[in-house]
Amino acid sequence: MIISGSASQALAAELAAELDEPLASVEYERFPDGELLAAAPGFAAEEADAERAIVVASTVSSDAHVELLQLQDAAREWGAEEVVTVLPYMGYARQDEAFEEGHPISARAVARAISSGTDRVLTVNPHENAVCDFFDVPAEPIDAAGRLADPLPADLTDPVFLSPDEGALDIAATVRDAYGAGDTDYFEKQRLSGTEVELTPSDTDVEGRDVVVTDDIIATGSTMSGAVEILAEKGASNVYVTCVHPMLAADAYTKLSKAGVESICGTDTIERPVSEVSVAPVIAEEI
Ligand code: R5P
Repeated sequence: MIISGSASQALAAELAAELDEPLASVEYERFPDGELLAAAPGFAAEEADAERAIVVASTVSSDAHVELLQLQDAAREWGAEEVVTVLPYMGYARQDEAFEEGHPISARAVARAISSGTDRVLTVNPHENAVCDFFDVPAEPIDAAGRLADPLPADLTDPVFLSPDEGALDIAATVRDAYGAGDTDYFEKQRLSGTEVELTPSDTDVEGRDVVVTDDIIATGSTMSGAVEILAEKGASNVYVTCVHPMLAADAYTKLSKAGVESICGTDTIERPVSEVSVAPVIAEEI
């Protein structure tokens, strides 16, 4: 049975259909003091089918983290023999080291908490696969980047699949391979602050070519909009922006639109208007 966190309901429904497993009814409440209560009465009511609970919850906020812990606990409390946790998007994964003296390794802290309520974890394109080592239970990354090729036009002109930093080059290569044609390339990136980056373009000639810029996540949009502006200056034809996790915080969408993108596409690991592609088939294969 599939149990969904409130931020992952569309993906959980897709996954239930892919796996042909029932979707538990769920309730999300907030008490006057601000505390949350996420419950799965649908799971408790159907104990006959309850050997395995698959909790699907992108931890897009601190509230989503608490909901996930509650739903894992509810599944166990009401008889699940195995609890599988699917983190379509793992929040705090980018805080994977102590950046200054006295800082926590936040990814490890949340991984430990999540591990306490589950037998197994699957997470889609975490910022670094090594984050899976922070869990105290078996945890596996799932690569869904190839799905990002699906909505691209079939007739891109001499395409370049570009990542805005070297770390995301493997994602660009995966999308290129799934598309079936084109070059790969990357920019150098230096992060100046949470909202500012400095990009240094490569020498690749993009004049008159279509460029697909790919990344694991668009958060503030600073990285992507910077890349799109540079590509426009270099005479690129159409620039398509794709990412696995379309967080699109604050004014990210506006930044990208103003920079002149042809289209913005992401997956349903984070449910946004641009979440055109579902990762459900890829998750279903790994479960
Ligand atoms: C960082 O290395 C990631 O791959 C992304 O490029 C980054 O997190 C995007 O953040 P933002 O949208 O805030 O620039």
